[in-house]
Amino acid sequence: MKPTIFWRDKKIIMMDQRKLPFKEEYQEYSDFNEVAVAIKDMVIRGAPAIGVAVAMGIALGASRVKAKDYNEFKEKMEHIFKVFKETRPTAVNLFWSINRMRDLIFRNIESGVETVKRLLYEESEKIREEDEKANRLIGANGAKLIKSGAKILTYCNAGSLATAFYGTALGVIRSAWEKYKNIEVFSCETRPYLQGARLTTWELLEDNIPVTLITDNSAGYFISNKFIDLIITGADRIAANGDTANKIGTYTLAVLAKENNIPFFVAAPVSTIDLSIPDGKKIPIEKRNEDEVTHFLDKRIAPFGVKVVNPAFDVTPSHFITSIITEKGVIKPPYDVNISLIYDSFFH
Ligand code: MRU
Repeated sequence: MKPTIFWRDKKIIMMDQRKLPFKEEYQEYSDFNEVAVAIKDMVIRGAPAIGVAVAMGIALGASRVKAKDYNEFKEKMEHIFKVFKETRPTAVNLFWSINRMRDLIFRNIESGVETVKRLLYEESEKIREEDEKANRLIGANGAKLIKSGAKILTYCNAGSLATAFYGTALGVIRSAWEKYKNIEVFSCETRPYLQGARLTTWELLEDNIPVTLITDNSAGYFISNKFIDLIITGADRIAANGDTANKIGTYTLAVLAKENNIPFFVAAPVSTIDLSIPDGKKIPIEKRNEDEVTHFLDKRIAPFGVKVVNPAFDVTPSHFITSIITEKGVIKPPYDVNISLIYDSFFH
């Protein structure tokens, strides 16, 4: 595992995930606008990693703000929040981070601008460290649900790269691997951006965890022929009733799991739960550029003039989800009751 994002000399350093698996290249950022562009352009992606990048980007932006008083500082910070809000709409961790950083500014109104800037920097580091700790707990909680020899299907990349470190769905897989050393992973390619083919396989091979790459449209074949014992994915936003937004294609896998009587698990930190949204219909779904569908490695593969729609996420209704694995424990149905219980225990 290589670090996804970190501070060096008051600059933000990020692994450039667009270059993987062929190049391990880090980019350096000293301007918050560049961090926002990096999030939009998928240099860093995955809900928890986006949350961490936003917190660090806000701290970086704050450090460069010139303000004569607290009110001017607050005003300039609102502009920075707006820039980050407009990067990617689905992952709630982004908005969670903004709210946490904004609260910190309000709570420290008396401390003076320079102190607040320092506190923002420290808070961003705290968010990064907490994310790794949460992932290790998710891993330990989830590994208890996995049996020796299990064949596990995962989707997209919910690994170390999608978080501060260790991963959510891949955190569970890593933890189960530590325990048994005999599990096997199947990774779907995850068209069109290929997070499964490029990133998940890269991470698992680095850790020597057995992984087989399959096409997205072969999942039904593998599941119905009993090559798969369970499915585990990450999440971008979990509504109060458990409906879960994740990478486009996740819903299809959840339906396949139910049809074939295998468990479908979601692994995510509590910061991915959005209690302000009652159900999945209200989750905003990002539409990405049509080039991701019409082109492959910058080469056009579809005819000119064809109409394209490219939603980046779909919503899996909660009745398809066997359990949601968090750092606070494993949430089982009824989700409308049990999610609030976990959420309350997190904050009180
Ligand atoms: O578009 P991406 O690559 O940001 O989408 C990532 C996913 O859908 C992940 O499964 C999700 O963010 C969870 S990552 C721990």
